[in-house]
Parts: sequence; structure tokens; C-alpha cells
Amino acid sequence: MNVNNIENINKENSNNCKSDKSNKNNKNNKKIMLTGDRPTGKLHLGHYVGSIRQRLEIQNSGEMDEVFIMLADAQALTDNFDNPEKVASSVIECTLDYLACGIDPDKAHIFIQSQIRELHELTIYYMNLVTVSRVQRNPTVKTEIKLRGFNNNIPVGFFTYPISQASDITAFKATIVPVGEDQEPMIEQTREIVRSFNRTYNCDVLVEPEIYLPPNGACLRLPGIDGQAKMSKSLGNAIYLSDTEEELKKKVMSMYTDPEHIRVEDPGKIEGNMVFTYLEAFSNDEDFEKFLPEYKNLDELKEHYQRGGLGDVKVKKFLLKVLNQMLDPIRERRSYYENHLDEVIKILEDGTRAAQKVAGETLKEVKRAMKINYFEEWNK
Ligand code: TRP
Repeated sequence: MNVNNIENINKENSNNCKSDKSNKNNKNNKKIMLTGDRPTGKLHLGHYVGSIRQRLEIQNSGEMDEVFIMLADAQALTDNFDNPEKVASSVIECTLDYLACGIDPDKAHIFIQSQIRELHELTIYYMNLVTVSRVQRNPTVKTEIKLRGFNNNIPVGFFTYPISQASDITAFKATIVPVGEDQEPMIEQTREIVRSFNRTYNCDVLVEPEIYLPPNGACLRLPGIDGQAKMSKSLGNAIYLSDTEEELKKKVMSMYTDPEHIRVEDPGKIEGNMVFTYLEAFSNDEDFEKFLPEYKNLDELKEHYQRGGLGDVKVKKFLLKVLNQMLDPIRERRSYYENHLDEVIKILEDGTRAAQKVAGETLKEVKRAMKINYFEEWNK
């Protein structure tokens, strides 16, 4: 999807709201982006191509009425409840990563999930609308339960996080949610909750969100430098946005390529070759013009590699240049904010205050729709 699709999404969205009640709650069919991450460590290149790049694109498109980016610390605690210090320090690390990447506090509210009680209150009401078997069918939850070895000892808090995620999204009446593809089931579940709520309470308070995915396969599932699986902290195969030039060089030079491509003359394989997968995700034609002008584009480079006569080191050096070009300004901004933590804290406080106001309004509407706004009603 590209920026043009943002428009289409929102057109579709306004069609969804064609009821004669004119969806007054999403005033003028506002375009609202909301997304977030579990703060459990620093962000890596997988996060960048999987979601952050799309967030920047949307933020900078000028199309949005509001942009919210959430540090989902309460969700992170659902499987890190015994390590709140890690979550707390990651809240700051992730915020630094956001700001470093170009999330602009003048355009986006960056806020902390656990500090907004309204989100948790919404979750309680949404829980009534979801069955246990529906959550059990959620493919992402299924995979995560296996991955974490919960077996029959699934914490209830963890099990219900898709419902809490629906609160995160609907509290802001988000219309567009840029996330990685693993989050698709969460958005679908949110949409179901929205429909169920509006139907059950005969209202149009909640708004159905649309997912916004990265443009190609390499970005959807960026593998780690070992080529084994998705990039992840726990597998130790990640390149972090905050890696220094030396760290990056070491990682790129050790990337998994084609083990049968031994001599430069040998024909090489592209499939499963991480250097090419990363070039797919990060490079464009201008990079070739700038750093490797003997090739016009990635197709030409691939072709030469497959034919034989192109060494890994040359391709890795090109990738290194492409990545450094992208990461240099990120490193520079990160270092600025690391030295101005007071500004970072202020950004989080302001963002959280703004988010709380919006979530509070939605909660009020939710309670009105459910007719549990007792005192407001009785004191009329
Ligand atoms: N589940 C998301 C992740 O693991 C984090 C998240 C929590 C989120 N609430 C959200 C993402 C709301 C988008 C919208 O990365």
C-alpha cells in the first residue's frame, strides 16, 4: 500500500459510516492513526520496515487529523509481569527510537498505555462481547502461547490482551493502524468488537479501524541476520536502530548469504540470501546511482550474482552504505534526545495527557450508550 491508499481507506471508512445517524462520533469522519509497540527492548530494523516507516509516511502525509503512538507497557507486562524494570526502561528506549526515527511530537502524541485508566475500563466492558473460544482462535495468540510455553498455564491477563488492544484502538476512534502483519488478527478482532458493541447498544460510538501493512514481503517479515527466522531480540539475530557503525559493520559482514557461493566466479543464490533480502527491504534505485553506479537497480545486481562473478563482500559493502545512510540521521537524533531526557519526559507527559483526554471522551460515550452513566443521567 502507498500513501494514496490512505485516502481510499478513509473513503471506505466513511462509506462504512453511511448510516443516517451520520456517525457524529467520528466528527467529520476524522482520520486518526493509532499504533504502538510492546516496550520490551530497543527497536530493530524489523520494526522499522515492518511498521515505523509506514507510521512516518502517514504522519508526514498531512492526511491525518490526529496521530497517536502508544507504548503498550501494560500489554508488555502480560508476559513480563515479573520484570517490570525491563518494561519501564524499555519505555524510554522505545521513545528514544521513535523520536530518532522522526516521529514528530508536533504531529504525533506519544503516550504510555498504563497511565490511561480509561483504556482498562473499556476493556472490562468489551470483555463481555468476546467469547473465550474466539480468543482461542486468534492465530497470533495461539502462536504466542506456544512460543512462550504457557501450555495450560496461560495468564488470564495475557489471554485477554487482544481485547485490551481493541480498547487501545477504539478509545481513539482510530481509522488506520499501521502494524506488522502478525497484528492482523488483532485488528480483525477489534473490528468485530466494534460491530458487536454498536449493534448491542444500538449506537455508532465506535469506529472500525483498517490495518496498514508494509509494501513487500521482505518488509513484512524481515528475517534476522542469520536467516533463520524473523528478526528478534531473543534470537540474537537483530540489527538495532541504535547500533553503532562498528556494530552494524560486524553484523552485515557476518550475514547469512549463500553457503555454496564460495568463489567470486561461482553462481550465487538469491533465495534465502539475507543480503539480498535486506536490499529488497531497504534499497532503491537512487542508492545504486549513488553507491554502486555500475548497476542500475537491484534486478541487475541480482542477475550478476546469479550468473557468477560477483562477490559477497561487494554486495555487503553496498548494503552497509545503504543502511548507514538511513541510520546516520537516526543515530544523530537519538544522541540528541539521549542528552535531553527532560525533553523526552515532557513529550511523554504531554502526549499522555492529550491521549487521556480523548480516551476519556470515548469512555463517556461508551457508558452513555450502555446506559451506565448514572449520575450524569440522574443529575440532569
Ligand atoms: N500488540 C502490539 C505488538 O505486539 C502492540 C500494541 C498494543 C498495539 N496495542 C496496540 C499495536 C494497538 C497497534 C494498536 O506490537
